[in-house]
Parts: sequence; C-alpha cells; structure tokens
Amino acid sequence: MDRVKTGISGLDEILNGGIPLHRHVAVYGGPGAGKSSFCFEYLYHGAKMGENGIYISLEETPDDFLDNMANTFSGFTDVDKLVKKGNLEIVKPDKLEIESIAEVLEEAISKNDVKRAVIDSATMIRMSFKDISDYRQTIFEFFSLLRSLDCTALMAVEAPGQDLAATGFEIEHFVMDGIINLYNLGKGETRIKALEVYKMRGTDHVRDKVPYKITPDGIKIYVGEKVF
Ligand SMILES: Nc1ncnc2c1ncn2[C@@H]1O[C@H](COP(=O)(O)OP(=O)(O)OP(=O)(O)O)[C@@H](O)[C@H]1O
Ligand SMILES: [Mg+2]
Repeated sequence: MDRVKTGISGLDEILNGGIPLHRHVAVYGGPGAGKSSFCFEYLYHGAKMGENGIYISLEETPDDFLDNMANTFSGFTDVDKLVKKGNLEIVKPDKLEIESIAEVLEEAISKNDVKRAVIDSATMIRMSFKDISDYRQTIFEFFSLLRSLDCTALMAVEAPGQDLAATGFEIEHFVMDGIINLYNLGKGETRIKALEVYKMRGTDHVRDKVPYKITPDGIKIYVGEKVF
C-alpha cells in the first residue's frame, strides 16, 4: 500500500508508515488542542519533500495564519520560501460555501499539482448551514468528490468535548477514512497534550493515547510513553 509520510515526529511510526494514500483524515480536538498546528506541519513536510500543499483556512486570513505558525514553529525558517515557490499555499475562500472550497481544491490539484490538502475547519462549514440535515448531505457529497481527487486531505473538526464517544458521533466520523483525536488533558495543576489514532481505514495503528508536545521545531509524539 502506498502511504503518505506525514513527517511529524512519531506519527508515521504510530501509523505503520504514514497515512494510506488518497485517504482523508479528520483531526479532532477541543480549543487549542493543536489541530491547526498539526495540519500545517503535515503540509510543511510535504512541501519540503516535493509534494505541494494547500491549506484552506476558513477562519484566519493567510497572513494571520502564517504569523501564528511562524511563532509556533520558529524553527521552520523556510516557510516563506516554500510559499513564494508555490509549494505551500494558504487560501481563505471568499465564501464559506462548500462549492467554493471544492473549486479552490480542484483548481489547486489540476494547476499546481497539489498532493496534500487541509480544510480548517469542518465546524466553520457547518456553521454556514441552517439545517443540519442539509449539512450532512453536503459533507457527504463533498467526500464523494474528495475521493475522486489525487490528494490526501486532513480536515480539522472542533470537538465539543474531550470524550468522542460521549459527545456522540456525527457524519464526519463515518465519512472520513481516519480520525486522529488531539487532547488537552488535565494533569495535576497543568495540562498535557495527547494524540490518539481513533480509526484509520486500511492500516493497523497504535491505539493508545500518546503524549505529544508542540515545539519550535515541530510536533513531537512520544510513542511508547504513557499519558498518566
Ligand atoms: N511554540 C509553542 N510551544 C508550545 N506550545 C505552543 C506553541 N505555540 C502554540 N502552542 C500551543 O498550541 C496551542 C494552539 O494550537 P493550535 O492553534 O494548533 O490549536 P487548535 O486546536 O487549532 O485551536 P483552535 O481550536 O483555537 O483553532 C496553543 O494554545 C498552545 O497551547
Ligand atoms: Mg485552529
């Protein structure tokens, strides 16, 4: 099976080599859990390896987003260069509509040979719908489209609570090929970040919650270490 190496330290080991090619993964987590940083780093390593990436930011403007990422990952000194060369593109579509997002994505893939995509976040798309069943139908159709495209995508999804099973499953859980949960767990007086591969169609993977840190040189996942 062909796999896409995320380049995130520890993650490819957890996934037995990477995300299966052309599979699409939801990155779940509460506020500040690290969803955007995680998704950005996936694109960053791709861009460095010659796989162009597009980050569709539905909330932050490209400038604000790049500013935040430059502060978080101060060791990634070549981001501007990758952006200028077109290996990494951050886009904020004018409209929140899924049709605009699909258009942006299709164009990036056909015109700029994009192989990695991020949509941040599904929750923003959901907010543009008055009727939840319309949203479900649209997201389902969007995933049918994604499946026909030559890219491997991550979609950030804001989780309403820490425990996925307790907060109830939604359409995104079923249509996505994989789910990676990011947690901000309370430990004594502090909080630690943890990551869990909840599902990944087509591959075995580590099932434990594993502690992780955001560092200036990238996310570090401490495979084999316990959260508590
Ligand atoms: N340089 C850094 N070192 C350590 N931790 C950092 C650093 N920069 C950011 N963080 C942590 O990352 C968190 C933000 O991560 P990120 O924006 O990726 O989360 P998110 O899940 O996308 O959040 P939101 O729900 O607000 O979109 C911060 O709240 C902080 O805890
Ligand atoms: Mg975010």
